[in-house]
Amino acid sequence: MSNWVRAHTNIALIKYWGKKDEDLIIPMNNSLSLTLDAFYTDTRVTFDDALTADELYLDDMLQDFTALKKVKTVLDLVREKAGIRSKAKVESYNHVPTAAGLASSASGLAALAGAASLAAGLELSSVELSRLARRGSGSASRSIYGGFAEWQKGSSDETSFAVPVDDADWDIGMLFIVVSDKKKDVSSREGMSRTVRTSPFYQGWLDSLDEDLNAMKQAIKKQDIDKVGVIAEQNALKMHATTLGAKPPFTYWSPDSLKAMDSVRALREQGYSVYFTMDAGPNVKLICRQSQLEEIRTHLLSDFTGSQLIAARPGPALHVVTGPE
Ligand code: PMV
Repeated sequence: MSNWVRAHTNIALIKYWGKKDEDLIIPMNNSLSLTLDAFYTDTRVTFDDALTADELYLDDMLQDFTALKKVKTVLDLVREKAGIRSKAKVESYNHVPTAAGLASSASGLAALAGAASLAAGLELSSVELSRLARRGSGSASRSIYGGFAEWQKGSSDETSFAVPVDDADWDIGMLFIVVSDKKKDVSSREGMSRTVRTSPFYQGWLDSLDEDLNAMKQAIKKQDIDKVGVIAEQNALKMHATTLGAKPPFTYWSPDSLKAMDSVRALREQGYSVYFTMDAGPNVKLICRQSQLEEIRTHLLSDFTGSQLIAARPGPALHVVTGPE
């Protein structure tokens, strides 16, 4: 049997921003995402008595200690659960278009949770896999599922995990505008921590979330692309507003992010149902009808190059594959 596991990335429509417990990665708020087909990670884990330390190969290149940190957290949890003492070799291939500069921690850590537990002979439920992936990277908890998933914050390691919300078998898609492939200055971990500790806007963000989450779930149920888009765009703008109030202040936006937002607004004026969201980096992700992805992409070619524009559709849950691609 193959030991390769594939997980797809996800983009939050209601953002996770802030941790209640930084070690266990318990979030301050529930978040809701869409898993996408375009970006994914294939991973295999081999526990081997002959190894003296864990090894991580990313796209065939041996990674240093920093990259291994989150991976080791997940491996240690699996070893503890399965009673395994040997070190592991982790081989991972990231299917994120070259230089796309899109964080792959969600698909990467979800694929690792699946591959490590499979190699250890553990038969974990989706909830257990989600909890395990969460310990590597919060957003990875949602990449266990296809379609829409909600990470329920819970209040402990046992109660903080994602659940499926709905399949995404309707006319919804995303278009990525890649404006930078540079590594971000402020990691999501540091950005959240600083914002929670120092931004006077953070409480306002938290106070507005129940309303956003409920409205988003309604909109998804009704398959209402405009409602989904409006709520997601407002939610993202609120999240990014908290960073400007932090000490020291920071922003993930670049001039090109603003240019992308302007292009989206212009398309909306032309009658398209198109909205944007952004994460802990300058790239902009558009939410639109799947059936209009190509049309919208063509319009955007007057402002951006073809390689900056990547269309994505709803993607599947974590699954075993015969081999890496
Ligand atoms: O899981 P992390 O540590 O990469 O944090 C992700 C945070 C955001 O992308 C900004 C929001 C989200 O919910 O994915």
